[in-house]
Amino acid sequence: MPTAADDPHDLDGVVSCHDLETLARDRLTPAAHAYAGGGSGDEGTLRANQTAWSQLRLAPRVLTDVSALDTSLTLLGQDLVAPLLLAPTATHRRFHPDGELETARGASAAGVLWIQSTLSSVPVEDVGAALTSPWWFQLYVQRDRGFTRDLMARAEDAGASALVLTVDLPVLGARDSDRRDTVGRPTGVDYANLRGLTLAPDETPRRRRVFNPHLDPSLTWADLEWLASAARVPLVVKGILRPDDAARAPDHGAAAIIVSNHGARSLDTAPATAEALPAVVTAIGGRVPVLVDGGIRRGTDIAKALALGASAVLVGRPYVWGLAAGGAAGIELTVDLLRTELEMAMGLLGTPTLADITSDALWPAAWPSGDPQ
Ligand code: FNR
Repeated sequence: MPTAADDPHDLDGVVSCHDLETLARDRLTPAAHAYAGGGSGDEGTLRANQTAWSQLRLAPRVLTDVSALDTSLTLLGQDLVAPLLLAPTATHRRFHPDGELETARGASAAGVLWIQSTLSSVPVEDVGAALTSPWWFQLYVQRDRGFTRDLMARAEDAGASALVLTVDLPVLGARDSDRRDTVGRPTGVDYANLRGLTLAPDETPRRRRVFNPHLDPSLTWADLEWLASAARVPLVVKGILRPDDAARAPDHGAAAIIVSNHGARSLDTAPATAEALPAVVTAIGGRVPVLVDGGIRRGTDIAKALALGASAVLVGRPYVWGLAAGGAAGIELTVDLLRTELEMAMGLLGTPTLADITSDALWPAAWPSGDPQ
């Protein structure tokens, strides 16, 4: 697999997340590119995720002193340089020979908070040891609850400062590229954190599979409470779209929630996250931080998410493309590009701090009559 070491100057011409995807596409096998880039069904939600952010309009305020721009914040007690996290994504050895160890180098260099996936291709202990920046661990609850409990403890012992329970994939999404592919994971890429887990053999052909042996379809709100009480660190719930679900989450132990449709890889025609976010923010009413992911590709998208009430955003594919395009340097560049674009957006909006980015930064459907204040 070619890496940035083959031509370290490849990244020189990259100025956007879209450029990174173009470079990654050239470096990856068609199967790896389809695995990361694809969504479920007819990919309506996949397209909508990006379109919904781009269709929101910003309302720049002029003649405001923007000589000092501050993107820093504190989230669940952790100081972050920007309201940007790296979302959990599975099996990085599909994208780089060193897999999650290379991601750890990139995330550490960028000082960005990365959420490691349960389905990592390198064990959490090794990745935790390679990280110098704060990190969280994403949890897919296994049918074997004892194994799940041990996995949580392993992540906590390795240094995870929060656990992120993904709840939006109780069964498989209809991803055609996965269903067409009879091979599955490339040789030598395994779910390193799940070694030793005993699974019932499944002879169902891939295109007819509904259940995933690595996802427990029986998970309920009661389990969320169990997990929150078993965890030694805050528990974040990822994959909420409905306001009524959002309102329940803090009562069951969620310390924060992530509005997400799994990067449009679960239920096709579910709403874009930009559409779902406002009602969730209202339902949460400030009780816990609300984060959002799905289709964030520009600094202006981050500003819009904050204007709709999110505390921070996550990106998935952009840093996967960064990893494939240029290893650790590609990940650092992904973060740099988005943060730089966010600073530009803040300056041009007249909002020098994150706290200044309120609903006032969005162009209203109609200005109130009289002089706007
Ligand atoms: C994901 N996502 C994901 N989510 C999760 O909770 N656990 C996981 O293991 C994975 N794996 C995964 C692999 C790949 C290749 C992608 C693209 C995504 C979903 C991810 O955390 C996030 O919600 C989306 O990627 C956000 O959308 P964007 O930024 O990719 O548009």
